[in-house]
Amino acid sequence: MSAHTHYTGLINRYRDRLPVSDNTRIISLNEGNTPLIKLNNIPRMIGKDVEIYVKFEGLNPTGSFKDRGMTMAITKAVEAGSQAVICASTGNTSASAAAYAVRAGIKAFVLIPEGKIALGKLAQTLMYDATIIQISGNFDKGMALVKEVADHAPVTIVNSINPFRLEGQKTAAFEIIDDLGDAPDYHCLPVGNAGNISAYWKGYKEYSTDSETHKAVTKKRPIMCGYQAAGAAPFLAGKPIEHPETIATAIRIGNPQSWDYAWAAQKESGGWFDKFTDDEILAAQKLLAQYEGIFCEPASAISIAGALHNIGTGEIPEGSRIVCTLTGNGLKDPDTAIKQCAAAHPVTIDAELNAVKKAILDNM
Ligand code: F0G
Repeated sequence: MSAHTHYTGLINRYRDRLPVSDNTRIISLNEGNTPLIKLNNIPRMIGKDVEIYVKFEGLNPTGSFKDRGMTMAITKAVEAGSQAVICASTGNTSASAAAYAVRAGIKAFVLIPEGKIALGKLAQTLMYDATIIQISGNFDKGMALVKEVADHAPVTIVNSINPFRLEGQKTAAFEIIDDLGDAPDYHCLPVGNAGNISAYWKGYKEYSTDSETHKAVTKKRPIMCGYQAAGAAPFLAGKPIEHPETIATAIRIGNPQSWDYAWAAQKESGGWFDKFTDDEILAAQKLLAQYEGIFCEPASAISIAGALHNIGTGEIPEGSRIVCTLTGNGLKDPDTAIKQCAAAHPVTIDAELNAVKKAILDNM
């Protein structure tokens, strides 16, 4: 195989559309280039003529879409001479920041809400050897503290208020258009701190706008559908929520930092926000695993819950091509998965041929 086929990450792939120079030292774990998988069984089951694709961001190096933003944020932090980065996180940002900080040889500090982080995310962040600061408060409180402390300590914030994060994350929209040959009709995704919906919209706009340096790749832009957990839905309330609650801990956020960008994405695209209960989120997670063989974390499954709901009501009409972002890997949150499948506990038998045979025949 020629050396030219070796994929080296999204900055190198899209460097002419990203704020890097030939001298920039790129900090990468070969993130991006994630699969866009067409669902086969679910559209057939619901009996609707729709094309649904999932952008499986759980296959990034640390298991979530955060790696797209983090390769840019850490690259630029290092370029600016930073020795340490900091973030508040519901888990995925902390894992990603920690990994990319190791890659760069700098320090990572992460503020996480005590007891509200999925187990896999905690395990990763520990392994990557970040300094973990647990707070007895939620993500929003952690975010406020991070913004304050950055004025008092030599640390670079790598939450999505860092504009380089959105620069990296916008490349997911580029990949979708490059894969499909055009933008989809609808793009459905979870909304927590609202950086990702803002980044996708930025990417879709850039690929559909002529600029001094680039000709537009397409004229088309999707309608953006942003989904929130019912107990953590500030975009539905029209104002911040003080005590957000949801089993989808990744999006347990009441005061989204990219508030204005996300509203602009909704308005400019002609899209909408909607909210779904924890039961609906978990049902969608299970549906995707059991009908398509794709295991995403609960927060990610809300994009399926929402798309199927909007297809059912006709808000997304038949004949549409839809992309749902699956933001994180199901392995991030084993506790929630095992609890959900408690009824289907494994059968235990003697280690003996006839017993195995019986177990098979009983369960055919
Ligand atoms: N899905 C997952 C799996 C996430 O981890 C997050 C955010 C979102 C969706 C929402 O994306 O914030 O850009 O609207 N997680 C952040 C974190 C807050 O700290 O890991 P958003």
